[in-house]
Amino acid sequence: MPRYLLPTLLLALTMGTGSNALQAQMNPAPAHPELRAVFDDFGGREGIAALMEDTMTRLLADPRTRPFFEFADHIEVERHLTDQVCVILGGDCVYDGRTMLESHESLDIRTADFNALVEILQDAMQARGIAFSSQNALLAKLAPLHREIVTR
Ligand code: HEM
Repeated sequence: MPRYLLPTLLLALTMGTGSNALQAQMNPAPAHPELRAVFDDFGGREGIAALMEDTMTRLLADPRTRPFFEFADHIEVERHLTDQVCVILGGDCVYDGRTMLESHESLDIRTADFNALVEILQDAMQARGIAFSSQNALLAKLAPLHREIVTR
């Protein structure tokens, strides 16, 4: 399957998800054993932090995403992304950043920009040797955030 189809497919599958489901993702109940395996596959919070550092390097190198990130506080965004993904995967972390709506509403992000970020994240996960099934488990949980991040 062409790689750009995956984010689109995930979006289509999750468009119907209500905001309660979104809340549940940001504040999950104690990790399900299957989610725990995914979390471990990412290398726990440390592995997620390394993944986000590489992802940020790639986001700054890619002409599609650089304009969004070049003037942002990279260290702060990286830390918040790490905690957010850690929480989403059931890890014992605390996300103390802004909501997805608050942090993205002034950025004028299109679906194509969202898909570019997902593609770059996929490359970074692949480079770290994270199992494809675990990559997809995270992407499936990020896809519903599209509704708060894409504003046009
Ligand atoms: C599933 C997708 C995404 C997730 C999980 C995500 C997550 C986050 C998080 C946690 C922050 C930090 C919020 C804070 O510091 O309070 C952030 C900030 C930011 N995000 Fe995203 N984001 C996503 C998609 C995107 C996309 C598609 C773009 C643009 C192409 C983008 C551009 C930015 C920028 C520029 C900031 C910094 C904003 C600022 O400092 O004011 N994000 N994002």
